[in-house]
Amino acid sequence: MTRTVYVNGNYLPENEATISIFDRGFLMADAVYEVTSVLDGKLLDYAGHEARLQRSLSELGMANPCTAEELLQVHRDLVEKNGIVNGLIYLQISRGNGGDRSFIFPDAATVPSTIVLFTQDVPDLANPPAASKGIKVIAFEDLRWGRRDIKTVQLLWPSLAKMAAKKAGCDDAFFVMDGLVTEGSSNNAYIVKGGKIITRPLSNDILHGITRAALLTYAAEAQMVVEERPFTIEEAKSADEAFITGASTFVMPVIEVDGATIGSGTPGPVAKRLRELYLSEGRKAAI
Ligand code: PDD
Repeated sequence: MTRTVYVNGNYLPENEATISIFDRGFLMADAVYEVTSVLDGKLLDYAGHEARLQRSLSELGMANPCTAEELLQVHRDLVEKNGIVNGLIYLQISRGNGGDRSFIFPDAATVPSTIVLFTQDVPDLANPPAASKGIKVIAFEDLRWGRRDIKTVQLLWPSLAKMAAKKAGCDDAFFVMDGLVTEGSSNNAYIVKGGKIITRPLSNDILHGITRAALLTYAAEAQMVVEERPFTIEEAKSADEAFITGASTFVMPVIEVDGATIGSGTPGPVAKRLRELYLSEGRKAAI
């Protein structure tokens, strides 16, 4: 089946969908994005993703070409048109085609933003083999820009981190700044020590994960102890457990950090419980 995608108001077969070579998303990485997961045909944490999209746009002074109602409808239409049961929806909004290449933003009154959405079919999204095995991460210096709270498409450094992880026979990377873990290359990072869940507090240093926000609420409701504080890579290496969260991975156990085995080298009980909690509560709240 040819995938149907959405570009600037139109639903098109993917091979007929085009945007300009002058688009600022392409030339300047002047674009923001969101990834929303779909389970059983429903959108997980949709309100959070929509709110963060609006925040990213407003931080960059970029217009949203769609209303909130239209955006939700496009998500639902794409799920339906592509027969997605489990998978992901990628959304990107750029500052549009400003004509000639220029560092100066085009006038938003005359140059509309570009919006693109497409689906990715992931049948085993809720139970990938990695979730029962756990993943291995390397430490990687965090050399990204200082506004990581804005979800921009500047993903070259995270790509280099994932390539370094792959080369080392690992799955992902924990970014490290001044000896402290900021987050994973495309996820938020956590350790568990003495039953306590430890994760870096929100700031411009990390993306304000939507999965993180939901999970911390569910953990508090389940009387689990959460401490929001930075942790060192050394602490991570000697933690009882470690895990990451993100829209495409939910809660994913980490069994090795920069060569050090975490716990028994298998997913720990806290990460397992949190994964189950997130999936069950997330499914209940899905729309
Ligand atoms: N990444 N931190 C970074 C740097 C991320 O790129 C992401 C998401 C997260 C987790 O955010 P959320 O829980 O809202 O997905 C944290 C997406 C999934 C991606 O780039 O594919």
